[in-house]
Amino acid sequence: MRVLGIETSCDETAAAWLVDGAVVRNVISSQVALHAQWGGIVPEAAARAHVEAILPVLSEAMGEAIGEDGPPDGIAVTNRPGLVGALSVGVSAAKALATLWRVPLVGVHHIEGHILSPFAAGEPQPPFPHLCLVVSGGHTELVRVDAPGQYRILAETVDDAAGEAFDKGARLLGLGYPGGRALQELARNGDAKRYALPRALPGDGAKFSFSGLKTAMRLLVDREGEALSRADAAASLQAAIVDALVRKALRALDEEGLKAMTLVGGVAANESLRETLRAACERVGAEFFTPPFDRCTDNAAMIAIAGSFRLARGMADDLSLDVMPNADLSAY
Ligand code: KG4
Ligand code: ZN
Repeated sequence: MRVLGIETSCDETAAAWLVDGAVVRNVISSQVALHAQWGGIVPEAAARAHVEAILPVLSEAMGEAIGEDGPPDGIAVTNRPGLVGALSVGVSAAKALATLWRVPLVGVHHIEGHILSPFAAGEPQPPFPHLCLVVSGGHTELVRVDAPGQYRILAETVDDAAGEAFDKGARLLGLGYPGGRALQELARNGDAKRYALPRALPGDGAKFSFSGLKTAMRLLVDREGEALSRADAAASLQAAIVDALVRKALRALDEEGLKAMTLVGGVAANESLRETLRAACERVGAEFFTPPFDRCTDNAAMIAIAGSFRLARGMADDLSLDVMPNADLSAY
């Protein structure tokens, strides 16, 4: 089955081409440079940038494939949650193509895309059931995955997401937006034990909390002034975030009696998190899976993968498919 995936929920315009579950092309046009000038995402600007990028991105993802193989057998598009104007660009393009080619269309929840992102054909497949740690700019959740489409949220954040903790910390250290990756680079030569930062709610397995870290970082920056080692502060912050995530993930794995873990979402690109969680899983004899870097941050391959599971079961949406900007996690 050949599936076209489309993702425009936030600040990446992305399209991907999947053949029998394998990712053949994964095209991503990022708006990071556009939004960096404002220090955050401006929804109106994001929608306009998607309008400009969508056709070039689509033709790069499927141009040759269409020439060779004809239209896809189905189209998967992110229709929830996200910025309303941004989502509308991808959904409109998907509907137009589905109408033109008379192929099935399926709307995908963005977070379900992240959850199923490790499932590309030809790569080691996580077993079911497994535990999934979703860490992105907007979400931090531990999800029990019993099968595609069967999810139970075991823990979520009560305030900031892990990605926001990275981004806010990075901003305090003057690293620009979004700062997760830059903070990782700065932390490389830092001493993670230099500054003590809080680990919130250590005893509560069902809740993450990261907003206290932001306050603690601000106090640290103010207190140390010129004397602050930015590298040590970055390393200390990264260690606090990684520590909280890994500790609760391991606890949930144990409580649920699961033997496999996946790590997904933009923050899954963090090397320290990947390696710490991999080592922790190894210690307790659990298998560990995480997608390659270009499938951690937002992309359309993960949407195509999630859509293929549904298309394979004969599930599809009709042309009344609408965007759902605020769809919560029960709306997978
Ligand atoms: O999944 P994603 O691309 O978008 C959302 O769905 O939110 O995640 C973006 C988040 C941002 O907060 C960004 O700073 C963070 O992922 N991120 C990282 C790294 N690469 C991206 N955080 C820490 N280390 C990284 N290497
Ligand atoms: Zn995402």
